[in-house]
Amino acid sequence: MKSIEGGFPEYAKFEPTAPGRDYYDPDNFKDELENIWFDTWLLAGREEEIPNRGDYKTVQIGNENFVLTRGIDGNVNGFYNVCRHRGSRLCTKESGHFSQGRIICPYHSWMYSADTGELSKAPNISDDDEGFNPENHALVDIKVESWDGFLWINANPDSPTLSECFNLPESWSIYEKYEMERLKVGKTGTYKVNANWKLLMDNAEECYHCGTIHPELSKSTPPMQPRQWVDEEVPETKVLKHVGSMGLNPGFERCNIDGNAYRPVFPSLSDEDARKISYLHIFPHAYLCMASDYVFAASIFPIAPDYTIVKGYWLFDPDELEKDDAYLQDAIEFWDITCQEDWAACELAQQGNESRSYQNGGTLTPIDWRVANFKKYIKNEMNNN
Ligand code: FES
Ligand SMILES: [Fe+2]
Repeated sequence: MKSIEGGFPEYAKFEPTAPGRDYYDPDNFKDELENIWFDTWLLAGREEEIPNRGDYKTVQIGNENFVLTRGIDGNVNGFYNVCRHRGSRLCTKESGHFSQGRIICPYHSWMYSADTGELSKAPNISDDDEGFNPENHALVDIKVESWDGFLWINANPDSPTLSECFNLPESWSIYEKYEMERLKVGKTGTYKVNANWKLLMDNAEECYHCGTIHPELSKSTPPMQPRQWVDEEVPETKVLKHVGSMGLNPGFERCNIDGNAYRPVFPSLSDEDARKISYLHIFPHAYLCMASDYVFAASIFPIAPDYTIVKGYWLFDPDELEKDDAYLQDAIEFWDITCQEDWAACELAQQGNESRSYQNGGTLTPIDWRVANFKKYIKNEMNNN
């Protein structure tokens, strides 16, 4: 195990933030969607949100909307939520079920196979009609992959696999002990934040703010403690960031709102692991907070330059969820409060980033070194595409 002295590495230094404009300019936002969001693997939810054939959920990113649905072969397929006739949105709900595996457009009733996206029927139009070949009008698909129960999407048809992009085999093994494929969603949350998406990730990349805005989190895991890297052999990849573990306050048995143990520790964790919470961040938009008896996952989605939606997932041992007296509130409240504290701070930052006095931006301190890394990632993605 390797820890970082004082919580940040030697190369951390003072440097400028991105200019304020990057956090509100509509053209920059559009460029980010094209160069980052529609060209990378994104955490779009959990397998168990759509357990059966025909179940679907939708994902909004900027003005695009995607539908994820489980096909007859059990795999999850992803499509742009756009009818090929005259462009109507197909599913208007956030989630639901396609009866008999059919997606029917609400405008003129074109019908698609939810299993393949193929156009199966267009009312009053025959396959023999000159100039019309149903094969040319299938829904436009996107890539979908599953990773330990999490669903990932990628709108770039030429993208390498998730495993290739994430360098998964060696990177992920260190978290196998949390057995995330086995865990199930006990609670979801949706947060609407009036701030640019990057401010939310910037915020997630530092705990400099923890002492100021997170009294509950700070009580459970004191801020500014050196974070242990999970293993020095594990490389950080372009998108996977092993943020490390924080130790519990001596009076706490669990990383939650009051420190009490309401559920057993995950079976594969050591006594040492049980007294920690470990963090895995995935650029550009997600992080996993792995406590000893639950996992909280947050997935951040840009909607407009100054508006972002965050989906939160609380994952628990399925055996615990089945209990009549299952108690989850300690974990739910802990991250619900912490999220709200974070998003309120991001909204304040948004207001300042839009000020004419902030057009050249501000300062990243050495303690903000992970924010600096995120800034570098954004810059590279924007320049390389
Ligand atoms: S727009 Fe969908 S059927 Fe016409
Ligand atoms: Fe925070």
